[in-house]
Amino acid sequence: MQYLLGIESSCDDTGVALASIEDDGQISIVAEALSSQVEMHKLYGGVVPELAAREHLRNLPLLIEEVLASAKVGVGDLAAVGVTRGPGLKGCLLVGLNFAKALALAQGIPLIAVNHIEAHIFAAQLDHPELEPPFLALVVSGGHTEIHLVKGLRDYQLIARTVDDAAGEAFDKSANLLGIGYPGGPALARLADSVDKSPFRLPRVMRQSEGFSFSGLKTAIAMLIKQQPSLEEEGLRAALAFAIQEAIVDALLFKLKKAVKQTNQRKVVVTGGVSANHYLRKRLAGWSQITPYFPRIEHCLDNGANSAYLAAKQFRLGLATALNATALARWPIESLLCE
Ligand code: KG4
Ligand code: ZN
Repeated sequence: MQYLLGIESSCDDTGVALASIEDDGQISIVAEALSSQVEMHKLYGGVVPELAAREHLRNLPLLIEEVLASAKVGVGDLAAVGVTRGPGLKGCLLVGLNFAKALALAQGIPLIAVNHIEAHIFAAQLDHPELEPPFLALVVSGGHTEIHLVKGLRDYQLIARTVDDAAGEAFDKSANLLGIGYPGGPALARLADSVDKSPFRLPRVMRQSEGFSFSGLKTAIAMLIKQQPSLEEEGLRAALAFAIQEAIVDALLFKLKKAVKQTNQRKVVVTGGVSANHYLRKRLAGWSQITPYFPRIEHCLDNGANSAYLAAKQFRLGLATALNATALARWPIESLLCE
């Protein structure tokens, strides 16, 4: 049995997890811990990168200590350290990467760099071990909206990607316009789920193009909200939220249906923060031509277990990373095969 420590600090959550690798290669998550920064960024209505980086620096040693102590594993027992190298906020990535490099150097163990989008995708396998490529993956998070054909580890064919905003941003910005809480996505979804229909209907945009686009929808949402004399009434806000959630989910499903047809793949992984959305899950569950795979809700959002699991898979294949590796704010997964 070997142990690998996984670190995630690409955005505003600090995540740490300990993975075990059995002699037969089986990977399990032994312990995990997460520190959310929501309360701090709430004051500013969005993630402040410098503050997030500082929080990661404060949280990381505490979470690592907590995870190792709960598993009764010492630093000296680690066989490798995995860490998110990108994509994400550069200052935040640097904190995790430098921490992992120092640990690797001090312990004389390999560093395993992880791509955050790939980690979101393989989180579905962590929670559904029977899932094997090939499959389609729809990644819907605060910074990313893309569909890939997953042929194997590090082997992706891009099918569609957003040309502007991500689906999570569309949720968050709409919630902001409606004046409901931070983070906006879950708050808007809760409000939308409190009703089962809406008199409002938003346009369905960019249906012809290859990629996703949410900027037209964002403008339509802003105009619709502006037309309302007041947003005081909860029922009106819920009706607007319902129409917004339906339009965003429709946009995702329209492109996903095209991808299923194009690739003839029936296994579909849906992952990233927005995949925690109940309405999206309900619509996918009702689609009989596909078998959807979602990570557990905690693993849809950013966390350490996703990084530890993917790093352990890479470690098993002997894929270590040089200690001079830099943080990558942008790191498209379709380029991984050529690295
Ligand atoms: O994957 P994630 O935790 O962080 C990134 O890598 O971006 O995704 C966060 C995004 C945010 O935009 C958040 O509002 C959205 O996921 N989100 C949701 C829900 N839960 C989180 N959007 C809609 N419905 C939800 N239930
Ligand atoms: Zn993420």
